[in-house]
Amino acid sequence: MPAELSPIDKAKYVAARRAVDFVEDGMRVGLGTGSTAAWMVRCLGELVREEGMKITGVATSGRTAELARQVGVPIKTLDEVKWLDLTIDGTDEYDPSLNLIKGGGGALLQEKIVATASDQMIVIADLSKQVDALGAFPLPVEVIPFGWQTTKALIEEMLSNVDVMGRGASLRLNDRAPFRTDEGNFILDLHLRRIGNPQQLSLILNQIPGVVENGLFLDICDVLVIGNGDGTVEVRDINNGTVEHERIDIIDTENLFVDGAE
Ligand code: 5RP
Repeated sequence: MPAELSPIDKAKYVAARRAVDFVEDGMRVGLGTGSTAAWMVRCLGELVREEGMKITGVATSGRTAELARQVGVPIKTLDEVKWLDLTIDGTDEYDPSLNLIKGGGGALLQEKIVATASDQMIVIADLSKQVDALGAFPLPVEVIPFGWQTTKALIEEMLSNVDVMGRGASLRLNDRAPFRTDEGNFILDLHLRRIGNPQQLSLILNQIPGVVENGLFLDICDVLVIGNGDGTVEVRDINNGTVEHERIDIIDTENLFVDGAE
């Protein structure tokens, strides 16, 4: 672990640090996936280990579950917990209405199930994720492997009838083999450049046989915490209509790491 965090890690860390202020003793917390969410899991681990906070985490991927165990956050399945007080997760894009594209890490299905089963979703990000309109980041769509090429063709045909700028779809690869999600499914990345009507696109995509879920998270995010490399954060609450600016002290990040953790 480097003594000095890079500006991007600082931005992710301060966003995560501010977001865990929303977590209270006894809460059931959905744990997102990705590098920003990993900072949040480490911050929660520190609260559990150092301050004895009692929380139950529900992970959105195998790798988040593994990190949570390593840093001491107790984990249960969603079926054991059934409903969550809060989910904290990263994002690949957010627009001014706090609609999101997620799934860059391939965990969109569990992420959407967990966020939907939560009273509140808090998203942590840095300014590089901000867009005026969603779609510059390729939209991940999880599809079942059976007949995936037919599903891809149906998606491409559908895209010629909706308000998007690009129409290409590519199978996500991992070492030249298809990337597999935690459910064993494939991901098609849609290169849309600009999505004119995300609500319509999301509904139509999910009606195509073979599509399991898409990475549009619409009207799900309640609070967005944007971290900056200078240690400041912006907290946007879409329900209250408030925007607050704060500075987070980066005192000692060594405490976040335990032996064997990522
Ligand atoms: C994983 C996700 C992540 O939240 C998203 O890819 C952001 O990741 P990172 O914080 O590493 O930029 O949706 O499926």
